[in-house]
Amino acid sequence: MKFVIANWKMNGDLALVADFKRKFNCCKNERYPKIVVCPPAALLKAFSEFPYDLGAQNCFYESHGAFTGENSPELLKELGCKYVILGHSERRSIFGESDELIFKKWQKVTDLGLTPILCIGENSDQRTKWKDVLEKQLEKYALEAPKLYGTIFAYEPIWSIGTGKIPSMNEIEDVAGFIRDTLGDCNYNSTKDDGATADHCCQRSDYYVVYGGSVKSSNVAQIIRTKGVDGVLIGSASLKSEEFQKIIEETMEY
Ligand code: PGA
Repeated sequence: MKFVIANWKMNGDLALVADFKRKFNCCKNERYPKIVVCPPAALLKAFSEFPYDLGAQNCFYESHGAFTGENSPELLKELGCKYVILGHSERRSIFGESDELIFKKWQKVTDLGLTPILCIGENSDQRTKWKDVLEKQLEKYALEAPKLYGTIFAYEPIWSIGTGKIPSMNEIEDVAGFIRDTLGDCNYNSTKDDGATADHCCQRSDYYVVYGGSVKSSNVAQIIRTKGVDGVLIGSASLKSEEFQKIIEETMEY
């Protein structure tokens, strides 16, 4: 089963929540992908009784205290969130979040039993050096193998976000393989350049790799079929219920 994760960013309002609740009120069955909607935190409560899972777009690494403007992960959980997006490139570039800060949030979120959706990816200047960028962003997680259980790593090349440009399917497959090689994955049959198989398997390889960046109904089927890809993270195309419905239909039965 594949993940279809909607990242509304700082978009949407009560009317859009009502529209989603009306359109997506139907049954879930085994043909459906795993659907997760991540609205702005201020809209989470309005999503109560929504049939699909909810996620937050960020949280802090402390439970409570003098941290004006931050969201407590415990509170997000109380509001029904099962997932939290962490380290989105907009958090990194606009709000200056560092790999260290994001790692602390990841630790807190996993300790609480929430599922982190950890975003990584290179910008347009770093395209030829994407391996170095991802290796650095993944460095700390590669040492945490048993705790990676359930974590969703979202590969989001920054040059693809909101631009309509996406990497080729071969490139996405290469990156998914590289992420799995870096983190260690006993189940994934990936080989290194020299033909040797990855030599640092983790005990549990039950983490996931999804792709994000300009995903829409017309390209989602081929992305989701790409080897090593467990789903998609969708920004702007998740804000229109008809388009989101089409995306769900395109990803059924994978
Ligand atoms: P996009 O955004 O689908 O609008 O490119 C993806 C994201 O930033 O998560």
